[in-house]
Amino acid sequence: MSATVVIGAQWGDEAKGKLVHVLGSQADVVVRYSGGNNAGHTVVTDGQEYKFHLLPVGILHPLTTSIIGSGMVVCPKELLKELDETRKKQPELGKLLISPAAHVVFPYHRLLDKLEEEARGSNRIGTTERGIGPAYQDKIARIGIRMGEFVQPELFPARLKEVLSVKNQILKVYGSEPFDYNEILNEYSQYASQLAKYVQDTDPIIQDAVEANDKVLFEGAQGSFLDIDAGTYPYVTSSHPTSAGACLGTGIGPRAIGHVLGVCKAYTTRVGAGPFPTELLDDVGETIRQVGHEFGTTTGRPRRCGWLDLVQLRQSCRLNSITGLVLTRLDVLSGLSEVKAAVEYSSPRGNVHSIPMNLHDFAQVSPVYKSFEGWDQDLRSARKLSDLPPAARNYMKFIEEFTKTPIAVLSIGPDRDETIVIHENLIW
Ligand code: GDP
Ligand code: IMO
Ligand code: MG
Repeated sequence: MSATVVIGAQWGDEAKGKLVHVLGSQADVVVRYSGGNNAGHTVVTDGQEYKFHLLPVGILHPLTTSIIGSGMVVCPKELLKELDETRKKQPELGKLLISPAAHVVFPYHRLLDKLEEEARGSNRIGTTERGIGPAYQDKIARIGIRMGEFVQPELFPARLKEVLSVKNQILKVYGSEPFDYNEILNEYSQYASQLAKYVQDTDPIIQDAVEANDKVLFEGAQGSFLDIDAGTYPYVTSSHPTSAGACLGTGIGPRAIGHVLGVCKAYTTRVGAGPFPTELLDDVGETIRQVGHEFGTTTGRPRRCGWLDLVQLRQSCRLNSITGLVLTRLDVLSGLSEVKAAVEYSSPRGNVHSIPMNLHDFAQVSPVYKSFEGWDQDLRSARKLSDLPPAARNYMKFIEEFTKTPIAVLSIGPDRDETIVIHENLIW
């Protein structure tokens, strides 16, 4: 099978964007399948930095077709802004297509995201406030407006009127001002007319590409433990960032997938609220944050940092059928005298070896660590495994043994050159 899925194996920001860029030059098609502009995928290439939120990273490759899949929710205003900004940096972009089944994010979704967070008080999720949750709520409630009807001037006004009348009632409950129908209609109709040329049935295009054995890359967003079903609910996003989401959000079946690359940091980060057993609230955590510039790509929030959680990573391998790990940011750990990784949890109910599905149980676990010797060398100039210090290789070996999954690619810096492909055959 030709299709490869790139997923975040932890809580997001694992450096999926970098990997998709590195592989994207070989890909015929790159498809994003979940989330919206809650994602922030950074690409550093030829001295330029790009931050993608809605556009598939493949857009930078002129010969690659980039697709916004049916599982996504799209803010038209942000998408047009992103297209504009990306074009300024690189005039020759690849072809873009948008699934008519992707849902549209409107200003009322953004406002409701904020109001819902405020209403949660101390239980707030710490969402990106991009309207993602409320847009998926509409999708599930079957009142959402999809790209296909959004770009048809004969359909959009009536749909907007119908939905806005409901939303304005809800806003009243929150004591918030209603939105003006004509204002949204006028502004968003302009976006619709600019985006119409990109909207066409993408499922058959992806299916044909898979059948033809073209190289198809599914670009995951968020991370496995932010998945609405598999994640640490309710501290999750509202979509399916797991590898299963690649099927749900693009129109292919599981047998179309040949490889699942699970991107994971050599440590763990999380943005937003929710349990995080290996979180470091001490100087080591602060060092990782500063050395690794661990601040959100989308919201700029400081990311919570902690040791690698191998209980989580092993579970991620099972959950996603990961065929190869992509270990990133190993360079950030250089200089620490000791490196730790959680190998099980202790809990009031005894030791546990997987993340309890019940949040209240998960909130009570404490990590049991295995300690590793640290290393001093800067890893960023390494280009083959033998360039790495033995302590770093020892850490990698343990990760592979514990998760029973090979490390296919190692990333030791943000630039595309700072990459060691260990198992070429695990990529396509
Ligand atoms: P994504 O959401 O998974 O695409 O990840 P983000 O782009 O939000 O965050 C990853 C950050 O790490 C970006 O700033 C990348 O430029 C950077 N990065 C990627 N790989 C490496 C690496 O191996 N080492 C270091 N130090 N930074 C990296
Ligand atoms: P990428 O693709 C990290 C988190 C938010 C919050 C929770 C719900 O860059 O890895 P939402 O706005 O989705 O309703 O917020 O999910 N979150 C992410 N964290 N990386 C992301 O994307 C994220 N997308 C959402 O911080 O905790
Ligand atoms: Mg990110």
